[in-house]
Amino acid sequence: MKTIFVTGGAGYIGTHTTVQLLEAGYEVIILDNLSNSRQEAIQRIEILTGKTVTLYVGDIRDQELLDEIFSTHSIHAVVHFAGLKAVGESVSQPLHYYDNNVAGTLVLLRMMDQYGIKRIVFSSSATVYGIPTTSPVDESFPLSATNPYGRTKLMIEEMLRDLYTADPSWSIAILRYFNPIGAHDSGTIGEDPFDVPNNLMPYITQVAAGRLKELQVFGDDYPTHDGTGVRDYIHVVDLALGHLKALEYVGNHVGVEAFNLGTGKGYSVLDLLQTFQQESGQTIPYQITGKRDGDVAAIFADPQKSKAILGWEVRHDIEAMCRDAWRWQSNNPKGYSE
Ligand code: NAD
Ligand code: UD1
Repeated sequence: MKTIFVTGGAGYIGTHTTVQLLEAGYEVIILDNLSNSRQEAIQRIEILTGKTVTLYVGDIRDQELLDEIFSTHSIHAVVHFAGLKAVGESVSQPLHYYDNNVAGTLVLLRMMDQYGIKRIVFSSSATVYGIPTTSPVDESFPLSATNPYGRTKLMIEEMLRDLYTADPSWSIAILRYFNPIGAHDSGTIGEDPFDVPNNLMPYITQVAAGRLKELQVFGDDYPTHDGTGVRDYIHVVDLALGHLKALEYVGNHVGVEAFNLGTGKGYSVLDLLQTFQQESGQTIPYQITGKRDGDVAAIFADPQKSKAILGWEVRHDIEAMCRDAWRWQSNNPKGYSE
């Protein structure tokens, strides 16, 4: 049984990926400092899968702890989710973001190198495409960043490419996520932001659950079919399954490759809102407000490379994403904190 070390495994994408890893027969060791997640999520994973997870509550910047973990367990590969992800917060606290995300990854990579663990799957983001003028975007699009969060992702990508250049025995998959939404269809794990959500879907589900009053739609005069921003929403379980494909890939190849994880389809804010209302039977009050700084009109993926090389394809449509997001939120109106 192969052991996978999952950093940030208590978080939204990490919990969903851990479930898929356990179901595929991997052993999972999680390191998470619970800065944006709750330990209860791990118990829910164990109930859902009937399997146990080894959890270390601690920080990827803690070299001694990594030393302890890497000397205790025989690790096949690392899936590296741990990081801070709030764009606005990264603008007001850039040093915190560079320290947590960039310096944290540096410590992790150094310790992996020391222990000869040279397979890693890294959570990057479509944010590395900056403000693209056309979509779909493929992996060869020029990279740029519009905020410190995005720069941490770009810097880590560069670090990984340099690492492979220096030592071609590394196997590195950089996964550029588009907009993950939805939840496991059991309704027992899902997205549970600590603060008022920044992202669209958790905002919608919290309005539906009565925790927030109304949705603000950021702008309705973009050059899109209805004037609202268009994004490539992807079911978090499809995203999780992309990590299993990437793990198989790094198990069989050396190199450094970036892959888009998106559906290739774009939906506007109003499209998503309407589908959510239809699938949940809830009415979501909303008002149109001004644009949010740094937002692009439209971005969606070209996922051909992931299909061709990883053999990965999405299975869930936008209706399933909305149904599953609502099942999680309606079963857990206050998230894990209940
Ligand atoms: P999340 O906040 O739910 O999960 C991240 C986890 O990492 C949390 O459990 C947090 O406690 C942990 N963590 C943060 N810093 C840590 C540290 N220094 N040491 C140990 N643990 C730490 O976020 P998520 O949505 O699951 O995102 C996972 C990864 O995917 C992040 O790197 C994020 O930047 C990236 N990503 C997310 C999205 C998205 O829309 N959710 C999009 C693109 C990329
Ligand atoms: C945002 C981040 C991106 C990050 C991603 C995942 C910005 C500028 N971009 O992407 O870097 O990788 O989250 O964490 O913050 N919207 C509303 N009302 C809301 C929230 C969002 O109308 O309350 C709109 C947005 O304008 C956008 C769409 O919904 O058109 C999706 O927004 P969001 O879920 O925040 O994702 P991104 O902006 O794509």
